Amino acid sequence: MSDLFARHRAVMPNWLALYYNEPIEIVGGKGNRVVDASGKSYLDFFAGILTNMIGYDVPEVREAVERQLATGVVHTSTVYLLRGQVELAEKIARLSGIENAKVFFTNSGTEANETALLLATYARRSDQVLAMRQSYHGRSFGAISVTSNRSWKNNSLSPLNVHFLHGADRHLTQFRGLSDADYIAACVDDLRHVLATSVGGDVAALIAEPIQGVGGFSMAPDGLFAAYKEVLDAEGVLFISDEVQTGWGRTGSAFFGIQNHGVTPDMMTFAKGLGNGFAVGGVVARGDLMDGPHAAGLATFGGNPISMAAANATLDYVLDHDLQANAARTGALIIDGLRHAAPRLPIVGDVRGKGLMFAVELVDPATGAPSPAIAARFMEETKKAGLLAGKGGLYGNVLRMAPPLTLTQDEAAEGLGIIVNALETVNAEVTS
Ligand SMILES: Cc1ncc(COP(=O)(O)O)c(C=O)c1O
Repeated sequence: MSDLFARHRAVMPNWLALYYNEPIEIVGGKGNRVVDASGKSYLDFFAGILTNMIGYDVPEVREAVERQLATGVVHTSTVYLLRGQVELAEKIARLSGIENAKVFFTNSGTEANETALLLATYARRSDQVLAMRQSYHGRSFGAISVTSNRSWKNNSLSPLNVHFLHGADRHLTQFRGLSDADYIAACVDDLRHVLATSVGGDVAALIAEPIQGVGGFSMAPDGLFAAYKEVLDAEGVLFISDEVQTGWGRTGSAFFGIQNHGVTPDMMTFAKGLGNGFAVGGVVARGDLMDGPHAAGLATFGGNPISMAAANATLDYVLDHDLQANAARTGALIIDGLRHAAPRLPIVGDVRGKGLMFAVELVDPATGAPSPAIAARFMEETKKAGLLAGKGGLYGNVLRMAPPLTLTQDEAAEGLGIIVNALETVNAEVTS
């Protein structure tokens, strides 16, 4: 055990998960690669959990932050005008497609979701919320209460009255083998049944991730959320799309993940990639919903000048370089390659993804049961070969990968090669 690992164990919480038998310390980064303390280089296919969205040491972001630092002002608070906030809010409001959109900036995704839930429960005068099974929305009481993954829930304490819906769980016996259309119909039936049987009075909102991040990139078939929204609209129930992982073109086929469903939500929450590593989150919502609450509110550090400089530079970079198109191109290369390899690898239970957000589900080839042990072996194997991947899924058996949107075709091919080699090595071990 390295000295730093031992010191980490002594003073950091046990529940703060670390990857790898011998966790690494990342000390440098450039482009889409990082270097650890031993000098080993890695192609980064996890990007600080989808946060280093345009890679490392990006001159445009560094220079924007340095310009702000040079003013001497790191923080002023929102009781003064903040040019960076207004500029970024204007861009996000325009990109959101939400009517008369307004934006509130926070420091994290958790806080963004808390804000959206507050706006919805306030507007609807209801504490009842719908969320999706297998979801993850953050670590505060409100966010945990709409989270549906036992590994991330320490208790059932909840400020909200929550009911969980189907939609990203077609592996369940009752849905297996259904076409997209039949699965959507079954889920909509269930939503109507929940509204008829499980709630009392008005429901405030549905909150959903278009692609479930911690849930192992499980996703509803395109169109499910449009079908849900039709039912919800009939009762005035609001729809919050949690875009913390899926925003800014990552899915390739849409700028915000929910647009893959052909639907515009009432609110979207965001965080992670927007600041390319600088802490920024927020909510973009219909103006009437955002303006609704009568009490004053602020987030002291939310949208501070440094994070706004980084976020404006990052978002401009994504748009100027059309990184959504790059995500579509490079993501397709990798996903197609993985799908091509899967039939000869019995440890692979499923390959799924959209753009630069893709996952491989690992199973015991003898039983088809989820295998976190095989996933852990894959992690060690890719680490050895110089690629960083992530893990997730309800059973910890899903490899999830989401490289920076700046990934080149060569890097995509290189990463695909490493992933397939690692899968072959582990597959040979398991099946021999
Ligand atoms: C979809 C989603 N929502 C919310 C959050 C919480 O964000 P944060 O960790 O910034 O509070 C996460 C974090 O992983 C997430 O994946």
